[in-house]
Amino acid sequence: MTFTSFTEKVASWQRNHGRHDLPWQVDRTPYRVWVSEIMLQQTQVVTVLAYYGRFLQHFPDVFTLANAPVEAVLSLWAGLGYYSRARNLHRCARELVLRHGGRFPATATELAALPGIGKSTAAAISAFCNGERVAILDANVKRVLVRYHAVHGDIRSAATERQLWSLADRSVSSLADVQSLSPYTQGLMDLGAMVCTPRRPLCQQCPLAAECCALAQGIVDRLPVRAAARATRTARAMWLLQGVDADGRVFLIRRGDQQIWGGLYCLPDYCDRETAVAAGQALGWELQAELAPVSHTLTHLDLSIHRLVYRSDSKRGRKGGLHGYWVTREQLHTYGLPAPVKRMLQLPVAASRGGAQIVKNDSNK
Ligand code: ADE
Repeated sequence: MTFTSFTEKVASWQRNHGRHDLPWQVDRTPYRVWVSEIMLQQTQVVTVLAYYGRFLQHFPDVFTLANAPVEAVLSLWAGLGYYSRARNLHRCARELVLRHGGRFPATATELAALPGIGKSTAAAISAFCNGERVAILDANVKRVLVRYHAVHGDIRSAATERQLWSLADRSVSSLADVQSLSPYTQGLMDLGAMVCTPRRPLCQQCPLAAECCALAQGIVDRLPVRAAARATRTARAMWLLQGVDADGRVFLIRRGDQQIWGGLYCLPDYCDRETAVAAGQALGWELQAELAPVSHTLTHLDLSIHRLVYRSDSKRGRKGGLHGYWVTREQLHTYGLPAPVKRMLQLPVAASRGGAQIVKNDSNK
């Protein structure tokens, strides 16, 4: 095994068997690659495909993104989860326009200093767009390296992280020619996603099989090692007040940035029935129906969402101290709403198998 043979095999496999038609592989500008890499964090390609084109249509360049209100960005992100990504994307666009004249810096080190751009994302942008010889190390790439080198340390530990960065750096440094940088970088991502998968990897199709230490030792399915998860799942109830006025308008509040679904719009929510009913009374609304709860799974949280439907009068002025907005059904699609709330209001959720999948594993960040 040599680092050179590793990189050559990955690059050559990518040229023949990897993915070449993903929208962010066409017209590879730093802006397009950046948006794709942020969307692809913790999210599968099939899911991102349902959002990427629409996002680029609305925000074709860094200037339109920077000039848009953050609500418009969150609205197009609704359903993708991990909403801090969207807020950082917007902050980063503003910083690029204000401090860099709308141009992306030319090195991974400078890119990594921008909001929301981590070391691996910065490297992906710079390798693809600037031809900079820098290593990427996302979750898929970690798995490939861990198995190829049979790294036994806990994948979440700082020591293993350092070891993997060192292996990734030495690999990319060994590339014989810079023409292979893009296929090699994309090849690592593709191998991790298509062949060296977490479960039931397709080792018989892997270009690295002859040299893979984990395969030789018969321990592919035991790597990467993951120490017992720290965070245990918790269950929580959420009580939503659905206030509807005589014209069918719905009352929405904007969620705080640090809350679940931060920055999105939602029906007012409470942690128990008693508080929710008291809030409905304080608003002067009239309870019409109490609907059966629906379940929604977030990263470390199982939510059971209850809904109290109220008839309300939007013209009577604000009571109950809640700051919010009366929104017509026609306007609802312009608000970034969490996927389960969209479903409850019977609005379309991003259309794709992947879209439905991410909703089940949506994030509370
Ligand atoms: N995951 C992260 N980056 C990716 C890319 N550029 N193509 C496919 N999957 C990815």
